Amino acid sequence: MSITYDPSSRSFYLDGKGLTYAFCINDFDYAEHLYLGAPIAHDDIRYCRAYGGTSTVATVPGTDCGWSYQRCLPEISFFGTGDYREPCVMVENLAGDRLTELLYDGHEILPEKPKMETMPSMRGGETLLLHLRDRISGFAADLYYTVYDDSSVIARRIVYKNGGSDRILLRRAYSFTLPVPRADLDILTLHGAHNSERQVEVIPMHHGVVSIDSKRTASSHTLNPFMALCAPDATEESGEVFGVSLVYSSSFVLKVEGDTDGTANVCGGINDLDFSWRLEPGEELETPEVVVAYSSEGLGAMSRAYHDAYRNHLINEARVFEHRPLLVNNWEATYFTFDSDKLCAIADAAHGTGIDTFVLDDGWFGIRNNDRSGLGDWVVNEEKLGGGLRRIIDHVHSLGMKFGLWFEPEMVNEDSELYRAHPDYAIGAPDRPHSYSRHQFVLDLTRAEVRDYIVESVNSVLRDNAIDYVKWDFNRNITESWSHGRDAERQSEFAHRYALGLYDICERIVNANPKVFFEGCAGGGGRFDPAMLYYFAQIWTSDDTDAEERTRIQWGTSLVYPLSAMSCHVSACPNHQTTRTTSIDTRADIAHLGATGYELDTTKWTDEDRATVARQTAKYRSIQDLVLTGDLYRIDDPYRSNYFSVALVARDKSEAHVVVYRRLGSPNRPPKRLRLRGLDPDKRYYIAELDVTLSGSTLMGVGLVPAFPRGDFLSITYSLREA
Ligand code: DGJ
Repeated sequence: MSITYDPSSRSFYLDGKGLTYAFCINDFDYAEHLYLGAPIAHDDIRYCRAYGGTSTVATVPGTDCGWSYQRCLPEISFFGTGDYREPCVMVENLAGDRLTELLYDGHEILPEKPKMETMPSMRGGETLLLHLRDRISGFAADLYYTVYDDSSVIARRIVYKNGGSDRILLRRAYSFTLPVPRADLDILTLHGAHNSERQVEVIPMHHGVVSIDSKRTASSHTLNPFMALCAPDATEESGEVFGVSLVYSSSFVLKVEGDTDGTANVCGGINDLDFSWRLEPGEELETPEVVVAYSSEGLGAMSRAYHDAYRNHLINEARVFEHRPLLVNNWEATYFTFDSDKLCAIADAAHGTGIDTFVLDDGWFGIRNNDRSGLGDWVVNEEKLGGGLRRIIDHVHSLGMKFGLWFEPEMVNEDSELYRAHPDYAIGAPDRPHSYSRHQFVLDLTRAEVRDYIVESVNSVLRDNAIDYVKWDFNRNITESWSHGRDAERQSEFAHRYALGLYDICERIVNANPKVFFEGCAGGGGRFDPAMLYYFAQIWTSDDTDAEERTRIQWGTSLVYPLSAMSCHVSACPNHQTTRTTSIDTRADIAHLGATGYELDTTKWTDEDRATVARQTAKYRSIQDLVLTGDLYRIDDPYRSNYFSVALVARDKSEAHVVVYRRLGSPNRPPKRLRLRGLDPDKRYYIAELDVTLSGSTLMGVGLVPAFPRGDFLSITYSLREA
């Protein structure tokens, strides 16, 4: 890894694992993008500049030289001075003009990446800080670029500064511009909904703008803040792929603009749809980090780059590789109807099966017997839980198990003590009714006193009780965005200020309680993004726990996020979401491709069921290090075939865990051939389930033939160990 500057050509070369990123400062002091791709020599890159069409260009202001900003590839695209591409930034100056020219104003090469002040970001890595400045208005942009030895990614972000003497209004403040000089890319995105998160969709780029976004003040179920730009011949194993993943949890936008010059200009960051930000002289705004991945070996290598980057540089170091709780959660067993005896009985029945944590979900606080009341009142419901939390916690601990508790800190019900005392704490515009979603409102995290209330009420429960684990839920998106805490002219700062407020309470609750293990959740997987992963080492992937559905949800999620980040449970059948029945072993084989647990009524288990679960949890413990640290190789794509299969391979290739799942069985079909990936071709592997030893080359070249019994929704696993 290295960042070098060649003063003779004013060129910057950023060499990370498996990639080079290069740009230069041209004769107009403009930061001109040169290259992102496989590693290249530095000597001649400046002569490989690509210039676009010239028919309608406007010259660089103040010159009649025929040169235009539109003619070169931008490191940051700006508005109104000759560049007609999607701008990365739009500034309204005091005079009302929206003109910007951001030109070179120096640079620094920093041995260590500076931490962001207001938002989560990646740790470590050598960093280039490029200073750009508008010489007329004083408006400035600091562009940060960080490269890593261990993952093929570049982390980028921009800090905008008002360096002038007049107030300005940022109408758009994106995090990056990335030109990819190809016009033939396919755009892969992850769309979804509650119960069907992160579904893979691929569309071709075209002339004009393809845009994905969230307007929900959450990264959302509907579109994940991620895109992959794939060469048309790209597969899981080959071809060029560029990824962009935003470390952000609020309304975002990502765009690909197909330009007439044959370039895909990628940009994005905070959604500017309902955004403006006032900067007084001397003030600055940090933008969310974007993690750009480059792979010359297809989507699989891009995903492994993200997994390495997020495991090694984003997720809490103390948690990321820690063996996870193997839990039982009472939600689908009881929903809101439980008492202490029932909870103790669920824990008792789980005890001795290898399940080591009991999690008490929604319904333990306030007057909360259904989802219409109680949110915001984080005091135990003594009527339901005779003996309070202490009784159930002591009981769980006496079994030698850990205790976890559910919170939804950001929410309030109209029917709650909190709302009766402080109706203004809920987000809502004056003289307008609130919209309800799951009968609840969202607390105004943009206000310090509301954040203080949340932090104190959650932390006091954690202080007064021996809680080992917390599930942090978030069950609705935001409407009527308006805050009592801001002037009218600053109301469009709301969505971003909500994210800043969220990160503040996460710092003061999650990071302030290092002994408690926190899991993120958002009405299923509605806020599964890298910024949340910074606080929550694992996130609930989806409320849809049906194994068949989960193959596609987990496949899509794994495009960006490591398996260790995906919380996946074995639940009851018929499945509560789909009514489908699958075998408990299939459910476990799919759910154990992540941080796992069981979410069903253990008191209904027979001795045989308990023995089955004990066998499954022992198997999970034997593969957990592969789940936490292994390399993921996706093999059979459930979006395109009747199968789902993956291999989790140890970094040193000494072992692997393979899962193959068949959706529907049919008589007299040709046998399935499962050609493994990611093994060492020269090693020999003992496969315990088959009692055979085969070479990596045979396993990858010829493959296994899984012997599925008759039936639907069946899975088989193989454990491979170097012989
Ligand atoms: C939504 C979550 O995804 C579920 O797991 C459960 O915790 C419910 N909320 C509780 O209200």
